[in-house]
Amino acid sequence: MSDTALFPLSDEHKMIREAARDFAQSEIVPVAAQFDESGEFPKETIKKMGALGFMGIEVPETYGGAGMDTLSYVLALEEICKADAAHGVVMSVNNSLYCHGILKFGTEEQKKKFITPVASGTAIGAYSLTEPMSGSDASNMKSRATREGGFYLLNGTKSWVTSGPVADYFVVFMMTDPAKKAKGITAFLVDGKTPGLTRGKKEPKLGIRASATSELIFDNCKVPVENRLGEEGEGFKIAMTVLDVGRIGIASQALGIAEAAYEASVAYAKEREAFGQKIGEFQGIGFKIADMKTRIEAARLLIYNAALAKERSKTSGERFTLQASTAKLFASETAMFCAHAAVQIHGGMGYSRELPVERYFRDAKITEIYEGTSEIQRLVISRAELG
Ligand code: CAA
Repeated sequence: MSDTALFPLSDEHKMIREAARDFAQSEIVPVAAQFDESGEFPKETIKKMGALGFMGIEVPETYGGAGMDTLSYVLALEEICKADAAHGVVMSVNNSLYCHGILKFGTEEQKKKFITPVASGTAIGAYSLTEPMSGSDASNMKSRATREGGFYLLNGTKSWVTSGPVADYFVVFMMTDPAKKAKGITAFLVDGKTPGLTRGKKEPKLGIRASATSELIFDNCKVPVENRLGEEGEGFKIAMTVLDVGRIGIASQALGIAEAAYEASVAYAKEREAFGQKIGEFQGIGFKIADMKTRIEAARLLIYNAALAKERSKTSGERFTLQASTAKLFASETAMFCAHAAVQIHGGMGYSRELPVERYFRDAKITEIYEGTSEIQRLVISRAELG
């Protein structure tokens, strides 16, 4: 929440943060528990987020976006996730995994057709890389796209697709040349209404329950050649480049959850009494608060650093893989640490559905898993450092 001496915020940054905070606190906080309980997708609040420009923050205005920078994006996302991580992941996937890839690798026609409705918030975008037998080992996919004249026929099952049941458009990765392994993967833009595409099993999840996650089943799904994103064989590089951006989003989501857990803990520690004093006056609680605060501030610096590296890359073209992975690794483990501490500080009340603390605990876990587990982030970081 705070400004930092290292990354002073401009008036524009403060404005977008305020706008996101106001919206999140007034429109999302009151409904978050109810959507978590029902597991229903929060259509109306997501639509309102779109109308406010949150679904395509970095997308130029010509393609329906808000035309802002990466720091604006992470500041807004953090505020949304502080209110509810399920709303936050829909926003993160829309902005980063979906819009960014098309902006970077798409043709002018693809940008107009596939970004504009999604960035302007009238449609939802999703990204589909994972398969039942290939999660971390992403290039080991089995689904196939075969060229037939002016079309590709897409076949196979994709899994764990965030917004899968509700998305209007998908960026989908499929193998076009298995002999070439990672270099035989190609990316496609698929309209959700295309015959041959059906939404499969909806995942019953531990956390972020209001975000809809499902399989996608492709059965001779016919996609025109003009919907290929990039060249044949470029798909894995596109998937990885886009995940670098996605990981900054998930880091911001984790920071939002950590802050929510922290603020609830500080308030409770100042109010709850035991053994004749406020529990915050016990060093055991105070030290937990200190550790939470320190990790949150460190995570924030890593995230802002990654956001600025991504911003610089718009002109330099330099990769920011290391900055994104360090931010994602540290922030997600911070979310888990803070949510765990928050439940402990709240005691029985932390375990009760009457307070949002148990939801923060359930929601935090996914940030250590999706868009690259903590183990994959450690692999990416160590490979970058050791060669
Ligand atoms: N940017 C650009 N190119 C990259 C790259 C990056 N960040 N990372 C790798 N590449 C390139 C490499 O340079 C290499 O190309 P060259 O041979 O030309 O040099 C090519 O891609 C293959 O790279 P690797 O040899 O490193 O590939 P690998 O098979 O060893 O895999 C990995 C590397 C890091 C483990 C990768 O598979 C990975 O990130 N796995 C995790 C996948 C993941 O995050 N999945 C989440 C999906 S989305 C989701 O969670 C659901 C949702 O909807 C939110």
